[in-house]
Amino acid sequence: MSSADTADIQLVDVTKSYGSNLVVDKVNLIVPKGEFVSILGPSGCGKTTTLNMVAGFHEPTSGEIRIRGTNQVGVPPEKRNIGLVFQNYALFPHMTVAENVAFGLKMKRKSRAETEVAVKNALRSVHLEGYESRYPKELSGGQQQRTALARAIAPQPSVLLLDEPLSNLDLKLREAMRVELKEIQEALGMTFVYVTHDQEEAMAMSDRVVVMSGGVVAQEGRPVDIYQNPVSAFVADFIGKSNLLPVTKVDEEKGKLRLTLKGGTVLIADPSASLAPGKIELCCVRPENVQLVQPGETAENVLPGRVDKMVNLGAHVDLWVDVSRGCTVKAQIPVRRLQNVDVGSEIKLRIDPAAVQPLAH
Ligand SMILES: Nc1ncnc2c1ncn2[C@@H]1O[C@H](COP(=O)(O)OP(=O)(O)OP(=O)(O)O)[C@@H](O)[C@H]1O
Ligand SMILES: [Mg+2]
Repeated sequence: MSSADTADIQLVDVTKSYGSNLVVDKVNLIVPKGEFVSILGPSGCGKTTTLNMVAGFHEPTSGEIRIRGTNQVGVPPEKRNIGLVFQNYALFPHMTVAENVAFGLKMKRKSRAETEVAVKNALRSVHLEGYESRYPKELSGGQQQRTALARAIAPQPSVLLLDEPLSNLDLKLREAMRVELKEIQEALGMTFVYVTHDQEEAMAMSDRVVVMSGGVVAQEGRPVDIYQNPVSAFVADFIGKSNLLPVTKVDEEKGKLRLTLKGGTVLIADPSASLAPGKIELCCVRPENVQLVQPGETAENVLPGRVDKMVNLGAHVDLWVDVSRGCTVKAQIPVRRLQNVDVGSEIKLRIDPAAVQPLAH
């Protein structure tokens, strides 16, 4: 069975233009049943537009949106069996929690008994039992957002679409809700499509991340794969912290590649059948894969440099090291490895060869 057969949602060459402004450009996407998929990208890259087309609020200019194999173009939102949680999808202030959660069921003309059971189950899923008769103004931000979630899941949609649902919450609550949302999704076995510009949020919750940039899919894959093997400087830079170091020369050495960087060379295993050595222009190295060579230690793949800046973050220190004029390498060093190092110190950095990702652009 191909993955398209088990897809809950499939986008086929979906394009959306507003006049001459192309905001979503031939997006192809498969969301398998029961997966948590995030659409991640900077502001204005087309995330909400894409989600709104899945929901049915906007029609694509061209392309198809399929839900469980059926093309949805022309099908109104209420017929798509989709639940929605948006950043500003406010609760009805004059209704209690239970009335808010029952709202979608009333619209579907469910019986009173069915509604009661569904409301109870939904509130249990989001850990809000006992809050039935409260009004929204009597709830914290996190409880309000959980109520909105309960309202969306109560009618048991096949898919839940969430657009930046946590962005109004403070950091601590947002981090707690990330874990909770993932647990709720797993417990329900429901397909979630989650839009965010927060890469940590996407990494923390998703089975799969779709990185968008300028209306196109820049990369998609499991969070760990995208983090370790970004396909472009954009993705490397957007996901996590990275050094994007210009490569001035590439030499092949016994099945390995020697990359000449400003300030030194690194020898790496030739990783890429996909990228011809002649195409390599940059390499991505994560700061946590840059080590400090201790005095007296010998190592390969060493770049000497001078410490320009240090920020102590408790468990580790962020170092900015000038390895050649105009070329700074960021390193994240555990505090216990940093003895007698200060701003202005001459030090040596070792680049972990297994963690160097060559890039074309
Ligand atoms: N109704 C519209 N008419 C014209 N242009 C629009 C319309 N809606 C969105 N756009 C444009 O489409 C682009 C994508 O917008 P969209 O809302 O999808 O971005 P986004 O990725 O959700 O951004 P954010 O993270 O800021 O929410 C933007 O450049 C926006 O200005
Ligand atoms: Mg948006």
